[in-house]
Amino acid sequence: MTQLPGLLDTEAIRKDFPILDRQVHDGRKLVYLDNAATSQKPRQVLDALSEYYERYNANVHRGVHVLAEEATALYEGARDKVAAFINAPSRDEVIFTKNASESLNLVANMLGWADEPYRVDSDTEIVITEMEHHSNIVPWQLLSQRTGAKLKWFGLTDDGRLDLSNIDEIITEKTKIVSFVLVSNILGTLNPVEAIVRRAQEVGALVLIDASQAAPHMPLDVQALQADFVAFTGHKMCGPTGIGVLWGRQELLEDLPPFLGGGEMIETVSMHSSTYAPAPHKFEAGTPPIAQAVGLGAAIDYLSSIGMDRILAHEHALTEYAVKKLGEVPDLRIIGPTTAEDRGAAISFTLGDIHPHDVGQVLDEQGIAVRVGHHCARPVCLRYGIPATTRASFYLYSTPAEIDALVDGLEHVRNFFG
Ligand code: ALA
Repeated sequence: MTQLPGLLDTEAIRKDFPILDRQVHDGRKLVYLDNAATSQKPRQVLDALSEYYERYNANVHRGVHVLAEEATALYEGARDKVAAFINAPSRDEVIFTKNASESLNLVANMLGWADEPYRVDSDTEIVITEMEHHSNIVPWQLLSQRTGAKLKWFGLTDDGRLDLSNIDEIITEKTKIVSFVLVSNILGTLNPVEAIVRRAQEVGALVLIDASQAAPHMPLDVQALQADFVAFTGHKMCGPTGIGVLWGRQELLEDLPPFLGGGEMIETVSMHSSTYAPAPHKFEAGTPPIAQAVGLGAAIDYLSSIGMDRILAHEHALTEYAVKKLGEVPDLRIIGPTTAEDRGAAISFTLGDIHPHDVGQVLDEQGIAVRVGHHCARPVCLRYGIPATTRASFYLYSTPAEIDALVDGLEHVRNFFG
């Protein structure tokens, strides 16, 4: 068995994930390499979810009875866990949403309805990048269409990095917000936060970081990032679906208007007008995803018990190995950085002129789960002149043997298509 320095004890870790024992296609061992789409869930998270429903289920912040108080304590306890996990200065800066897309849309709508000095209008500019997930493109297109603000973006270099050579022309005195991904879901690129934040601060623009592909894989410190908002989702980090996070600086959350109205987000309501609860509740209208937040809290406990530094080192070792092994496959072209430095554990590639859907299907027949397509980042495919990619993405339970299986599987694909 291939041993690499920095690997976790995957034999022990995999025992926590019942699904990894599954067989598919008549007894083939499952090789799950689609972690950038969603991670698998450890027993600890599954137990927390069923225990919540079996013992505590009630609505939060509303009842005086025992279950309501216990459910509220669990839900708010999950907020404490998220705050500690990302080193937020205050728990009140953690807003629960449905997913990262909702978190990003929430910021776009806060700014769309805001007064000065935050207001986005036809005299202002919004900056994103060409490597964004659609969820960090479309909300800004919508805002730009609604307000007349100009949408600008950083382009990409041939090796899959942000082209910041014209940073002073892209981020200007007119820029209201710069919103960019920390680790690209399609290219794997880890972006240079400091340079972008420094320029944004120079011109007084807000910064929103999409950390969906970073929060599961590396220590995340919102204070060190010096951004104004950070968005991520629970299901990619061992938590359930249906729960996302938006972290925002407290003074901004106090100043900015709510987006969704409803129960729980108010202070008082009359037939003429309403006043709002303080953040984070101002941004959490309606019954929140309670069980999902509790599940996310359990996922954070689980990841923290292993250590985000160790998870990062494990994935780094795997990525280095995978880049090397994939580089040996004839006709394979990695789309994105080809060094293991400054990249995450999602690797996209093309294989000659075999369509990625065919690659994915033949791999699937061998039990290997990858994602194929444009990965909700179609402008990246357009930039590199390809219809789609095949993407393998690793997590804390992934092993070098699974990378070997992928490489063997690709050999099979090549033989199959002659
Ligand atoms: N954003 C997820 C992915 O990249 C779904 O696969």
